[in-house]
Amino acid sequence: MIGTLLGVLSAVLKWVFTPLPLAVLACTMATIYYLMTKDYRFWKARGVPGPTPTFPYGNEFGPPLVDFIGFEEWIYNTQGGKKFCGYIEMARPVLYVGDLDLIRAITIKDFESFTDRRDLAISEDFMEMLQVLNGKEWKDTRSVMSPTFSSSKLRAMHQLCLDNASNLNDYVKAEMKRTGGEIDIKDCFGRFTMDNIASCAFGVNCNSFKDPNTEFAKNAAVLFEAPTGFAAVRLTLLVLLGNIVQKILPDPLKSVNQFFARVVNRTINERQTGDRRKDFLQLLLDTKDKDGKRILTDSSIIAQSVLFFIVGYDTTAKLLTFAAYCLATNPEVQDGILSEIDEVLERHKGQLTYEALGEMHQLDRAISETLRLYPPAARIERLSSKEYTLPGTNVTIPKGTVVQMPIFTLHRDPDHYPDPMRFDPDRFLPEEKEKRHPCAYIPFGSGPRNCIAMRFALFEAKVALAAMLRETRLEPGPNTPKPPMPLDKRAFLLTPEGNKAFLRAVPRK
Ligand code: HEM
Repeated sequence: MIGTLLGVLSAVLKWVFTPLPLAVLACTMATIYYLMTKDYRFWKARGVPGPTPTFPYGNEFGPPLVDFIGFEEWIYNTQGGKKFCGYIEMARPVLYVGDLDLIRAITIKDFESFTDRRDLAISEDFMEMLQVLNGKEWKDTRSVMSPTFSSSKLRAMHQLCLDNASNLNDYVKAEMKRTGGEIDIKDCFGRFTMDNIASCAFGVNCNSFKDPNTEFAKNAAVLFEAPTGFAAVRLTLLVLLGNIVQKILPDPLKSVNQFFARVVNRTINERQTGDRRKDFLQLLLDTKDKDGKRILTDSSIIAQSVLFFIVGYDTTAKLLTFAAYCLATNPEVQDGILSEIDEVLERHKGQLTYEALGEMHQLDRAISETLRLYPPAARIERLSSKEYTLPGTNVTIPKGTVVQMPIFTLHRDPDHYPDPMRFDPDRFLPEEKEKRHPCAYIPFGSGPRNCIAMRFALFEAKVALAAMLRETRLEPGPNTPKPPMPLDKRAFLLTPEGNKAFLRAVPRK
């Protein structure tokens, strides 16, 4: 057997080393090399500063081989990204813009030239998601979906959030009793945001405080797993070659998407028989044109519901985790917030109403400051839909250029925030906010393509924290690190090291 295999191998090798296959191999390698490096002079030719690319990865891994946050710091602080610079992501030229006036021009003033993001949907079932849509399709879908997130609609969802926040509060107290020491607050908030987005986006009551391993939670977990093996190779090819890869390679998320499609379809059918709830799913079902026909198709509603889940679950859990950490490690700030919560609740007869939440200004400022110091998304991205000259420069970028803008490094830049590592919610007093450039604070992105659910995210975070803090005080425990919170530098969403955050939740007198 081995003899036969060796024979075949030696015949193949003999053939490969004959002139024709060698020539084909050499031509293929030369073509790949040409395609990978043809834009290496792209930025130099336009007089744009930036790092020198290296074959085969360009500047993808920084100077080289740094992690994601390390890359952000490197490009912003040392390669000119604080103003603007150009780098090569594998083979693709990317403009990196940290200048606040340019960010405003790109995301707001000249938005018509930057309505899109790069064409990248990791699954064919994700193609209809708002995040992925471009051009007119994006504009139409966004304008149909925007009213879903208005304050009057949020008010209607208040009770759903409140029920989930009350479960969170009970769980935190029970966990504290069980462990007797400290709890992983990231895990607690993950359960809360899972339940909250499941009930608000899918109309599903998945009570992950009781059972974190429901079918819903198990399928959801797959969406957040970092791709490995085949899924990782497929993702790399997708970034390099675009959505064509979806047609060639099977989709590892197929069965998960089918699960969520079944959940949404089942709920849609139930709703058609008259069972209405005040959640996102119902609002999407209620989008009607002037003839009273539903505007969004079933497949679009499924895609948007899954999108809300993907982008809404972990981002908000992380905001809550970092906020709890900041309060535990800044007791004087927490004291002010606890007094304010008590005062406001007294005025509102102990009820955590929508109006009561609106009066908790110190809590609001602490959430804003948390999002400054620990913004869950480290950067935003646009794609030029036309040729564009950067205002005040003679740099012109062609249609189809990826433009990235920092959030993380911008928010920690001492030129925008003196003593940037200090947690100081007073930076968000109205008079302080007024002094700053509007693009110096962009945790939810900027302009018409910003986070559609900003108000919902801030609202659910406020409900969760107020429900917890009215009964509990947060304190550092033996495993709470000293500020600043150490980060997992490889994660694309800002994550505490080890994806855990331990602290103590002590009952208030
Ligand atoms: C603290 C929580 C959150 C943060 C920090 C956050 C941040 C962001 C950021 C930075 C963007 C990109 C904006 C841009 O490119 O300018 C974005 C987009 C988006 N977010 Fe959020 N997000 C949060 C919560 C949520 C939630 C709860 C939902 C859904 C229920 C959601 C839905 C979306 C959608 C659909 C988009 C794409 C909008 C579009 O392309 O038109 N986000 N978010």
